[in-house]
Amino acid sequence: MKLRVLLAGLSAGLALLASQMVWAQQPIVIKFSHVVAANTPKGKAADFFAAKAAELTGGRVKVEVYPNSTLYKDKEEIEALQLGSVQMLAPSLSKFGPLGVKEFEAFDLPFIFDGVDDLRKVTNGPLGKQLFDKLQPKGILGLAYWDNGFKSFSANKPIRTPADLKGLKMRIQSSDVLKTQMRELGALPQVMAFGETYQALQTGVVDGTENPHSNLYTQKMHEVQKYVTVTDHGYLGYAVIVNKKFWEGLPPDVRKSLEEAMAQATRYANQIAQVENDNALEAVKKSGKTTVYVPTKEERAAFKKVLVGVHKKMEARVGKETIEAIYKATGFDPAKL
Ligand code: LMR
Repeated sequence: MKLRVLLAGLSAGLALLASQMVWAQQPIVIKFSHVVAANTPKGKAADFFAAKAAELTGGRVKVEVYPNSTLYKDKEEIEALQLGSVQMLAPSLSKFGPLGVKEFEAFDLPFIFDGVDDLRKVTNGPLGKQLFDKLQPKGILGLAYWDNGFKSFSANKPIRTPADLKGLKMRIQSSDVLKTQMRELGALPQVMAFGETYQALQTGVVDGTENPHSNLYTQKMHEVQKYVTVTDHGYLGYAVIVNKKFWEGLPPDVRKSLEEAMAQATRYANQIAQVENDNALEAVKKSGKTTVYVPTKEERAAFKKVLVGVHKKMEARVGKETIEAIYKATGFDPAKL
């Protein structure tokens, strides 16, 4: 009897030990959800991060990347992050308004950045950090800023002047700044999830949209848009964000390796973005399905003249101090226009 009890105790102990060993070998899973194709700047950088995370943690972390809205669409993905159903996202900076962090929409202000160098001065400076700090009370940590690029307008009619957008239903991301930008042009803005845009363009629910070329091409939007105008009128980039509780609960050595993986992924993302967009534009041209127009300096200036008033109009939305901090970092002077 005694022996039987002893053996039963021993086998229960061994089972517990075995289950603990399996547990110790289980990798920590990070679900990284995003809405664009895998072969875009964001898609490639997410995959790069996943590979680096596995390498630098010696397999202790497994990053599962879910591209193309396969897990969640725009709005749901941020809610899912807060609930802990996913651990990492990289939404565009235009999509933080519904969360109540409206200041990020300052990045949407038309013509506020002359190029990525201007942009970098903001994201690498105090404002970049202050904006991330605003996410913390929402249970979110900002880890990095990743580029996509500057946007073009597309539609089924040629767009040469601001007046050409008049009356067009234009799909936009969920940003009040973008809403105001479209209204300023006389267009009718329609907020819509990225994953629904192709179909809305195809069926005529909307007439046109704006996006960097990598998004236009990989979603095949050029197949249902006859004209693309390379206005470079506004920037589209991303904030890589994580669930704060999850991130802070990671073993410190694992977190340190992931921070290094993120630093490398960020360098990679920001190196490839321009090239990816240039290649996408070439592919769009080659497809022969859409006519690409590059405005003259004067034509572009006409768009700038109409749209720069959006900065003032959006002071109450994104904060006068936010706009001034950007002007200060980049040297932008609205009086000089
Ligand atoms: C869009 O909705 O147009 C973009 O934010 C998609 C993306 O993530 O680049």
